Amino acid sequence: MYSDYQHLIDLNDYSPMWWNEIIELGERIKNDPSGFAHECDGKIMATLFYEPSTRTQMSFQTAMLRLGGKIIGFDNPSNSSVSKGETLKDTTKIVSSYADILVIRHPVGGAAKGAALTAGCPVINAGDGGHLHPTQTLTDLLTLKIEKGRLSGLTIGMCGDLINGRTVHSLCRAISCFKDNKFIFISTPELRMPAYVKDVIIANGSTFEEVDTLEEAIGRLDVLYMTRIQEERFASREEYLAQKNTYILDRKKMLDAKQDMIVLHPLPRVDEITVDVDSDKRAMYFTQAKYGVYARMALIMTILKNQSPTELLKGRVYNGVRCDNPRCITNHEEYLPKSFRSSGDGTLLECEYCDERKLI
Ligand code: NCD
Repeated sequence: MYSDYQHLIDLNDYSPMWWNEIIELGERIKNDPSGFAHECDGKIMATLFYEPSTRTQMSFQTAMLRLGGKIIGFDNPSNSSVSKGETLKDTTKIVSSYADILVIRHPVGGAAKGAALTAGCPVINAGDGGHLHPTQTLTDLLTLKIEKGRLSGLTIGMCGDLINGRTVHSLCRAISCFKDNKFIFISTPELRMPAYVKDVIIANGSTFEEVDTLEEAIGRLDVLYMTRIQEERFASREEYLAQKNTYILDRKKMLDAKQDMIVLHPLPRVDEITVDVDSDKRAMYFTQAKYGVYARMALIMTILKNQSPTELLKGRVYNGVRCDNPRCITNHEEYLPKSFRSSGDGTLLECEYCDERKLI
């Protein structure tokens, strides 16, 4: 199913060349932000945030304002017609007739793709449940390019809630496309990286190992990407409490890290990095958040300038088959076509919205 507009739902819908162009533009903007002050004069961006956000929402808004554009939107769906039961389809259809570009964050996987199916303008995925977060990845890639000088030949540790952390899913899928990157996944057995991410890493020829403790990995890393345990994505409070406080990066652990290792974190931080690490020159998470504005300025400019139709659904609808993931948009918005890719010998289906797999 084709859409007339160019959306950013999943970075892997594009080539690394396209990402590189955005990163290079982001670097140029960083070096001369005022040179881009009129790039989006007269354009309107709508931000539809169905889930809390500080950085992503404000950096998108700042990005559009710094490009000369204007912003509309909501950050609390209970103040909009969503609270009266309006579908994602109707909200998207209406708001996209007011704006030139729509940025959406939603608590369930595949929501941005679902929205793009009916939108009358480009849609950017600003985080869909525990699934993907492509614009955080553009931010992370820009940060690595500036602070490490390269996107290849890196040993990257990812620590914390790897099963629910959408930022690490998107980052792994992207950075495994560059040469000679290795991953060390640091998590409890319950919070390991999902199979759909590991499969992409393997298909891209990168390698990963899984360890239980930070101590086993920290001395080998060029980049340590810390994540928060995502309380809101656990089925029960007991399950969350069993995982809470497992990984804490402090000054003592930093003693074992390389002198040029950098620490990234998409933020917000809860307690997984102690505040005394903030003054370590290797702590790069606040700088990373600042670079998010440049990455998003580059993305907005690119999407608004290069309109081309995109194929949103490539698979097929299997009669009566539903996605098994209760946190998939197709189980919340009934009208959406339940579309799957088939893999292997045809008995494995992957949901085209949230990537969850099922055997038939
Ligand atoms: C993250 C998110 O919302 O996925 N933050 C962000 O967008 N910068 C990380 C998180 O919530 O833990």
